[in-house]
Amino acid sequence: MPQRHPLIALADFPPGSKRAFKVGDRRVALCNVEGKLHAIDDVCPHAGASMAAGPLRGTTLTCPLHAIAFDVTNGAAVCPKNMDPVQSFPVFVNEGRVEVEV
Ligand code: FES
Repeated sequence: MPQRHPLIALADFPPGSKRAFKVGDRRVALCNVEGKLHAIDDVCPHAGASMAAGPLRGTTLTCPLHAIAFDVTNGAAVCPKNMDPVQSFPVFVNEGRVEVEV
């Protein structure tokens, strides 16, 4: 059953921010792209690197280890395109706090 988990104050996560958060037994990469919040699985499916440690260009987050890239809006693979997507998670703002539904 999905549950909402508070992550950080929105005021502390301005546009351009990206960061990994531990949520239960998972890691989630939260990104702020021009004021829109997105969350995908932080664990790169290739070899487990933290996706949030890689560069964010537009809506594309690139793994810092071997450069597999995913679209943070939906988890789809950007490069190479034939990879399976990673999971994406709904993000909410509740009374100034960013929450992710996992
Ligand atoms: S660990 Fe992410 S591309 Fe290799």
